[in-house]
Amino acid sequence: MRVTESLSLLMAVAGTRVLAQTSTSTSTAAPTTSVTPEGPETGKLGNATIVTNNPIGVVYKATLPEKAWFASAYPEGGNIEGDITAVAAPDGKGVVFTVKLSNLPKEGGPLPYHLHVLPAANGNCTTTLAHLDPFERGEATTCNAALPETCQTGDLSGKFGAIVPDAEGKFETTYTDLYSSTLEGLGAFFGNRSVVFHYPNKTRITCADFAKVGGAILPTGNSTLPAPTGVVPTSSSSTSAPTGSSAPISGAAAFGVKTGLMGAIVGVMALALF
Ligand SMILES: *[C@@H]1O[C@H](CO)[C@@H](O)[C@H](O)[C@H]1NC(C)=O
Ligand SMILES: *[C@@H]1O[C@H](CO)[C@@H](O)[C@H](O)[C@H]1NC(C)=O
Ligand SMILES: *[C@@H]1O[C@H](CO)[C@@H](O)[C@H](O)[C@H]1NC(C)=O
Ligand SMILES: *[C@@H]1O[C@H](CO)[C@@H](O)[C@H](O)[C@H]1NC(C)=O
Ligand SMILES: *[C@@H]1O[C@H](CO)[C@@H](O)[C@H](O)[C@H]1NC(C)=O
Repeated sequence: MRVTESLSLLMAVAGTRVLAQTSTSTSTAAPTTSVTPEGPETGKLGNATIVTNNPIGVVYKATLPEKAWFASAYPEGGNIEGDITAVAAPDGKGVVFTVKLSNLPKEGGPLPYHLHVLPAANGNCTTTLAHLDPFERGEATTCNAALPETCQTGDLSGKFGAIVPDAEGKFETTYTDLYSSTLEGLGAFFGNRSVVFHYPNKTRITCADFAKVGGAILPTGNSTLPAPTGVVPTSSSSTSAPTGSSAPISGAAAFGVKTGLMGAIVGVMALALF
């Protein structure tokens, strides 16, 4: 149900964005972008289907390399820094992506990013081929974020917004994509593939392969999971010590503080009553 909540929120946000875009493109004479309204675009194999059985607690992570593939983006060396972490939603329905980036290019954005079909051979972003698109929707029309089932499953920025760096060159977001899969065997599975960051003109700036991370992390920092079948106990995360293990601890700690605070408030109220 939290997924549906975040979905409707997303749809609301996406809806306003689409409205905003339409109004600007009608008022200005819409020079480069498509003038036709972005209607539903059903893939050759249908709309994307919601993945409901993603394995709980299995984490995939793509960490960007030190050097940009498009070196001109960083004339003095370097690259976008950071990673994308992906883990099944608490009920296994969809995948929670957490994007944390810094040292983003100061100009040339907003930057689209997508899951691509193949991994990058020796860091070569060209070898990743096209966007992950198991329903064969293509990219002739842009994704309508209000109808994510009609988008390419790998079109993360189409569904959740392109990267707009803050004043410090950082960008962070987290969202649940219902159409991505951490379950091997499905076309929408991306754990053996890559993520590519582009300029709006599609030039590939950098890319990174996903790899399975040991242990388990909780996706949202809400430690009150309704324990669906096969939840990996949090203790296993400390034994295998993944890099992301601080997330559940801080989440759990935050919850502990919250309950502690609630207890204190209740206590004070009880005191006041007597
Ligand atoms: C795909 O989804 C869109 C939007 O929900 C819908 O209009 C269209 O009929 C769907 N196509 C199929 C084949 O289900
Ligand atoms: C794409 O945009 C970037 C940033 O503005 C620029 O450096 C690059 O040359 C462009 N690529 C092409 C093929 O136009
Ligand atoms: C990257 O891969 C493409 C496609 O396989 C190839 O044409 C190109 O030469 C490669 N570039 C480098 C620098 O290896
Ligand atoms: C990745 O996994 C999917 C699903 O298991 C499979 O169909 C695909 O061929 C794999 N791709 C690569 C590059 O290994
Ligand atoms: C956290 O879990 C509790 C209990 O299930 C729920 O009421 C609350 O809405 C959740 N909060 C978030 C942010 O998901």
